Formats: sequence, C-alpha cells, structure tokens
Amino acid sequence: MEQQLKQLEQEALEKLQAATSLKELNEVRVAYLGKKGPITDLLKGMGKLSPEERPKMGALVNTVREYVTAELEKKAAVLEEQAIQEQLEKESVDVTLPGRKIKTGNRHPLTRVIEEIEDLFVSMGYEIAEGPEVEKDYYNFEALNLPKGHPARDMQDTFYITEETLLRTHTSPVQARTMELKKGEPIRIICPGKVFRRDNDDATHSHQFMQIEGLVIGENIHMSDLKGTLDALAKKMFGEEREIRLRPSFFPFTEPSVEVDVSCHKCGGSGCNVCKHTGWIEILGAGMVHPNVLEMAGYDSKKVSGFAFGIGAERIAMLKYGVDDIRHFYTNDNRFLSQFHRTEG
Ligand code: DAH
Repeated sequence: MEQQLKQLEQEALEKLQAATSLKELNEVRVAYLGKKGPITDLLKGMGKLSPEERPKMGALVNTVREYVTAELEKKAAVLEEQAIQEQLEKESVDVTLPGRKIKTGNRHPLTRVIEEIEDLFVSMGYEIAEGPEVEKDYYNFEALNLPKGHPARDMQDTFYITEETLLRTHTSPVQARTMELKKGEPIRIICPGKVFRRDNDDATHSHQFMQIEGLVIGENIHMSDLKGTLDALAKKMFGEEREIRLRPSFFPFTEPSVEVDVSCHKCGGSGCNVCKHTGWIEILGAGMVHPNVLEMAGYDSKKVSGFAFGIGAERIAMLKYGVDDIRHFYTNDNRFLSQFHRTEG
C-alpha cells in the first residue's frame, strides 16, 4: 500500500508539473485529491488494515495529500502569474504611437480686437468702464444732446422696452454715466460693449454689434490730443506705417466732430479694392465733447474740455482679418472661427 501511495504521489506530481493551464491543473486536482480519486479510495480501504498499521498509514496518506496539495498551489500561483503576464502583453500600450491631437479653442476675432484695443489704452493710463445694455432714453440720447424729437435719432432706431427704456444704440451713454459718477473729476476711459439697432442684417449690417467708446476729460484737452491718440490706435491695429486723416462730420454730442480714416493697410495708400481705390478707410467717429454734454453731466465747460470716439469692433476686425461678411462673427461656424487659431498671439 505504501508502494502504491508513493507511485500515486509520483504520478500526481508529474501530471501537475505538465499542466499548462489552470483548467488542466484543476483536472489533476480532481483526479487525485477529489472524492472519487485514488487517495480517497486508499483512505476508505484503511479498514482492512491491522490496528497497528492504521495510524501509520493514515499519517502517510495525509502527508502525501498535503504535499500534493501544496505542490498544486505552487503550480497554480505560477500559472496565474503566467496568465496575468500574457494578458498584460496582449493589452500593452504602444507608447511609440503618435497621440491624438486635443482640440483647443481660440479667442473669438472680436474678442481679440477688443483686447488689443484695451491693452493699448490701459497702457496709456485709461480705465475700462462698463454700462448697461438695457439703457434709459435719457443716457442713450438726451444726455448726449439728442433731445426727444431730434432728427439725428432716426439714424439710430432701436428696440424699445418702454417709452423710456431701450436697448442702447451705441456705447456713448457710458460717457454720460461716467461723467455723473466722477462728479467733475478728470476722466480717461474706454468702454467696450454690445449695441443694438433696428437694422436689417446683411453683409455689413447687424441688429447687434460691438463698439468701443473712448472718453477723455480734463483741463487743456485739445483736438491734437485726440489726433495723437487715434494715430497710436491706427498704428497698433494696422501697422506702424499707417497714417490717419480727419474729415469734418456731425455728431450731436461732439463739436467739432470728425470721421477718421486710416491709410489702407493693403495697398499702402495707392488704391485697391479694400479702400475702394481711395487709399483711405474710414474706421471711426470722434470729436471734442459738446459743451452741452459736459454741462448736463455737471462739468464746467469753461474749465474743462474733452474728446470722445466710438469704434466699431466688427469693422476693425473685418478690415484687419479680411472678413467679407459681418454675419460670420455671430454664426459660430467653426470653419470660420478656427482660421484665427494660427494667428493667435
Ligand atoms: N456713438 C456714435 C455712433 O454710434 C459713434 C461716436 C461718434 C462716438 C463720435 C463718439 C464720438 O464718442 O465722439 O455712431
């Protein structure tokens, strides 16, 4: 019987060593240690032995069973480790593959124009001011020397909320609001923001667009200060070689008023399709703040003077980037917007 046991042990060890998978190993376990296996049979046959032999054989069977079990476990650990390694190899990542490009956004062309202008004016000591888009008739028109019934109101028809409340037609009301706030103190502000007009949308008109207002008030502010300031603006936005020219114009809130042109950045002034063969491009309206506007806001027009200007952000962006339709700015079409990625700076 002892002989038989040794042989079984030998056989079991050989088979378990030969097992190449956990499944095969389990088959060996069932075959040798299971309830119907030869070792169990041997234990069952112990009844036939003499009482002296019984404990000896029992101990021997147990030793063999424990030894085979321990060997099975060792082998199981080896096979498990192997299975994990195989899986890892199968799922391994090829670090030499090029990565997937992450799409990043970029600033909207209008935001870029506004930020560039803000940077320039902040560097010249201006503060950035804000005002409400839903505005009082008083600030949008009356305080800017456009009393009720003034014919110049027709050019800026807008969306009325009530008789006295409207969507602002320009950023100029921030001039009057700031003057009220500063109570006679000097002012140097620019104010970017949305404005609204009852216009039919087409390639050059939009019922909503953006302006950047500028206002400077203090003692001894002259037209030459306005000209120097706008010259710096034109050079910053369109290049150091640019020049400006002022043409007489009319705005109720400035006197004198001017329309400001910049020499064409495309042809340098010789004439092309961008400047309609004139060499000049109109970029903004400006002027010296009207004494009525100063007085209505509590400033003494005999002591202080000021200049103001209003820039159309879309117009600047269209010229600078060669955009042919204002509606591109609002439709959120990535084919348009992503073009500004490359020039982002
Ligand atoms: N508010 C004017 C407009 O929307 C633009 C403008 C012209 C603003 C002259 C000014 C200015 O401050 O002085 O058409």
